[in-house]
Amino acid sequence: MKTIAFFNNKGGVGKTSLVYHLAWMLQRLGYRVLAVDLDPQANLSAMFLDEDTLWRILENKRERSIYGAISPLFRGVGDIAVNPHIEIRSEGLGLLVGDLGLAEVEDELSGTWPRCLSGEERAFRVITAFARLTANASRDFKADVVLVDLGPNLGSINRAALVGCDHVIIPLAPDLYSMQGLRNMGPKVRQWQEDWEIRKLMATRSPIDVELPEGGMAPLGYVAVKFSVLNQRPAKAFQYWLDEMPGQYRTWIVKNDTEAEPSIDEDPYCLAQIRDYKSLIPKSQTHYMPIFDLGRPHGVFGASADAAERCAEDFEQLAIRIVDRAEFARPPAPVRLERSSAPPSLSARLNRLEKLVSKAS
Ligand SMILES: Nc1ncnc2c1ncn2[C@@H]1O[C@H](COP(=O)(O)OP(=O)(O)O)[C@@H](O)[C@H]1O
Ligand SMILES: [Mg+2]
Repeated sequence: MKTIAFFNNKGGVGKTSLVYHLAWMLQRLGYRVLAVDLDPQANLSAMFLDEDTLWRILENKRERSIYGAISPLFRGVGDIAVNPHIEIRSEGLGLLVGDLGLAEVEDELSGTWPRCLSGEERAFRVITAFARLTANASRDFKADVVLVDLGPNLGSINRAALVGCDHVIIPLAPDLYSMQGLRNMGPKVRQWQEDWEIRKLMATRSPIDVELPEGGMAPLGYVAVKFSVLNQRPAKAFQYWLDEMPGQYRTWIVKNDTEAEPSIDEDPYCLAQIRDYKSLIPKSQTHYMPIFDLGRPHGVFGASADAAERCAEDFEQLAIRIVDRAEFARPPAPVRLERSSAPPSLSARLNRLEKLVSKAS
């Protein structure tokens, strides 16, 4: 099982939309996926669940929401709940529902981080709360992969969340702010990883009874998101920033990298290029389903249907690259791309086209 965070301290670069679509795509490919909403804004939960369902869960199962499950520990009356609530969205796809209350633990996490250095058991319990909660849930759910959505900042919730992550994927929008985000977050994540190594060392010298995560936080690559396309190529204004990405990623994320800079199309660190899906995005949000499951019943046909199909291809490629890079085991079940909601296969489309042509002639 691998835990992968999507992180860029710049907001609006497409983190949440990526986690949402990738979760559905990996599930389609036969993996058991646990999506974890660790952004106090809870946007990922709002993409998966309509408002009524979300509020019902938070009302009835609050003590087992992400916030509820860790609150006994933060109130000083116990440890995390062993079993947080997993909202099943489909067979093989579960969600750890986010909670606006999460913002309340930011200060305590911040104050507790240095206390791990003196080997205090409670400090380790608090800092690893998200990591242990996610590990418990993924064991319960028998997840092959955990995808973690984070808020847009370099705060202590994100630091504690990353302590529980093996890998980090960086979404980049083709603009100046996204590049600035890279410049800030690259050194910061590296520093957090090193700081956690030191804390783990301190833990070995103290008699503490907490299962400590590895905290690898290893960068897996970047995903270029939200650029407009003209004539099958990114529009010129975006191409400038796309061309910047391989170099900027090497400068700020890859340590001691002296290799030559390839173009983005040939860059092995570029996991995918995800275009601007325009009106398909609000449609996907209205119907609470990924773009690649939208079709005629949702008012998607013609050029939009082609774009939805292209979206399936982009996310399938992204999913396969992530599986290969993060090296998590292939599922025992056969790949399930033939679900009824999946876009029709190429041969089915050709058959349909042939029928239309013969009808017309
Ligand atoms: N590929 C895309 N094409 C068009 N709009 C997108 C795309 N990805 C995300 N968006 C939109 O951009 C905004 C920010 O995306 P979001 O995923 O919430 O980013 P973040 O989590 O980084 O803040 C949202 O309104 C979302 O619907
Ligand atoms: Mg978000």
